[in-house]
Amino acid sequence: MTDTVILDRQRNRHIAFGSGIHRCAGSNLARMEMQVALRTWFERIPEFTLADPGAVTWAGGQVRGPRILPLKIS
Ligand code: HEM
Repeated sequence: MTDTVILDRQRNRHIAFGSGIHRCAGSNLARMEMQVALRTWFERIPEFTLADPGAVTWAGGQVRGPRILPLKIS
C-alpha cells in the first residue's frame, strides 16, 4: 500500500499535536498557517510535478518531512 495524502479525509483521528494536558497550544494557529500556505501555493503554482522521484530525501526525527524535493513547475 502506498502513502496517500487525503487532506479532506473524514476520519481524522491523530496525535500529531500530542494529547492530554500538554496537547499543542498552537494547533489552531498551525492549521490556519497550513491553510494559508497551501492556498497561496495552489494560487501561484497550480501545476507542478515531481521532477525526479528518486532524488527525494526525507528528514527523520521528530519533525518528518521532505528535505530534498525537486519539482518541475509548468
Ligand atoms: C504543524 C505544527 C505543529 C505541530 C505538529 C505541533 C506539535 C506539538 C506537539 C506534539 C506538542 C506536545 C508535546 C508534548 O506532548 O510534550 C506540542 C506542544 C506545544 N505546542 Fe505545538 N505544534 C505545532 C505548532 C505550534 C505552534 C504554531 C505553536 C505556537 C505558536 C505551538 C505551541 C505549542 C506549545 C506552547 C506547546 C506546549 C503545550 C504544553 O506543554 O502545555 N505549536 N506541539
